[in-house]
Amino acid sequence: MEKIKLFSGENLPLEMHKVRIVEKLNLIPIEKRASAMLEAGCNTFLLKNRDVFIDMLTDSGVNAMSDRQQAAMFLADDTYAGSESFYRFESKLQELFGMDFVLPAHQGRACENIISQVFVNEGQVVPMNYHFTTTKAHIQLNGGTIEELITEEGLKITSNAPFKGNMDTVALKQLIKDRGSDNVAFVRMEAGTNLIGGQPFSLENLQEVGNMCRKNNILLVLDASLLSDNLHFIKEREEKCKDLSIREITRKIADEFDIIYFSARKLGSARGGGICVRTEELFDKMKGLITLYEGFLTYGGMSVREIEAITVGLEETMDEEVINQGPQFIKFMVDELIKAGVPVVTPAGGLGCHIDAKAFLSHVPQVEYPAGALAAALFITGGIRGMERGTMSEERKPDGSETLANMELVRIALPRRVFTLSQVKYVIDRIVWLHRNRHLVEGLVFEDEPEILRFFFGRLKPTSNWVDNLVNQYKTDFKDSL
Ligand SMILES: Cc1ncc(COP(=O)(O)O)c(C=O)c1O
Repeated sequence: MEKIKLFSGENLPLEMHKVRIVEKLNLIPIEKRASAMLEAGCNTFLLKNRDVFIDMLTDSGVNAMSDRQQAAMFLADDTYAGSESFYRFESKLQELFGMDFVLPAHQGRACENIISQVFVNEGQVVPMNYHFTTTKAHIQLNGGTIEELITEEGLKITSNAPFKGNMDTVALKQLIKDRGSDNVAFVRMEAGTNLIGGQPFSLENLQEVGNMCRKNNILLVLDASLLSDNLHFIKEREEKCKDLSIREITRKIADEFDIIYFSARKLGSARGGGICVRTEELFDKMKGLITLYEGFLTYGGMSVREIEAITVGLEETMDEEVINQGPQFIKFMVDELIKAGVPVVTPAGGLGCHIDAKAFLSHVPQVEYPAGALAAALFITGGIRGMERGTMSEERKPDGSETLANMELVRIALPRRVFTLSQVKYVIDRIVWLHRNRHLVEGLVFEDEPEILRFFFGRLKPTSNWVDNLVNQYKTDFKDSL
């Protein structure tokens, strides 16, 4: 895309694909959006899709598939054991990651379940650049704790640092010294760190972490769910990788790890997952649990049609023009919002545009979930579904007090190749309007709060009648517009 310049000089992210299957959208009036949001307990996970106009909740399992992926699904080999579809999947992963052993699993958290059960013992620690919600839950469920060793820059909302997903290697060295390598279950690196704005790690940082793990005989595990964005950023931002192909960068990354797992709802743009391992010994430790929890070793809970789609999707991830579409749309959105004075995470990362709800709603205390309130308000304003990534996504401490999140973000995900630039411009327009009227939005309080993963199905209500005020202001400004 960047190679095509416009006569006007404008810098537009130009799609390098065309759309031939479409889905009709519907925008319900604002009063109905407000009542749908209240009925959903002010939780965007609980909305019915029929009420949503622009679904930017996640990129998980909702990326657009290519014509080749769809075609491959017709050639699936539907058999319980020994499916050709699995062998194609296995050999693509062996080729890309250079690891001999592949275990299929139905999605990312299924891989986390098995890896945690096998490798985490009571009292052990898992250092990582940053946690993901399901990862942390699985490690804790098996008696482990996590230590986030993200560099200081990673937790700054605005920054020019190109690799905010880097691990603090000085802190890692110290942790290994303090706790002893026997008490470290494994070290986990997450590509395109989800919860801090889709920020990448650099190859240089990873190689330092890899050296430290080898020296101390500690397993190094990659969560490659968001690898495609991380690959794009390494190619774009890391000087010594500029002339390497995406395939070469992929192999250099993989070479550092003992285990690589991924959600193929993200990586490979289909629905499934897998664990790649370097040695037969590691493979043998996990294969029984795959069979127990997921399914036989040649399907692992996935439909063979999805396995075929993932295999093609993984190959397409090696194409820079395929993987740069998401980050370029996100950059466009981030740049436009900055121009309008809306606080967002910088530099633009992968996965989505991240609004800084703490600054956006600075009058809402963290214990009233500013990111949750902003996500609810954005749906009411424009039928746009984003996701709370802040204190609501944390769990309470044993004494019942809140764990205040490092960042209060609303993630506006850009599922890959799904939305057009005019839809992205509409989203920007409604966010800017909401920012101008931010004083109208107040907080939320839990009505029904589950103990585990409360952000998925917890129900909340507004702390005042702010929803009515927002609706009235919208109708004054937009008159008869939906
Ligand atoms: C970094 C990361 N790891 C793991 C997962 C879990 O994957 P899944 O949703 O397929 O279970 C996700 C999902 O969003 C993710 O972003």
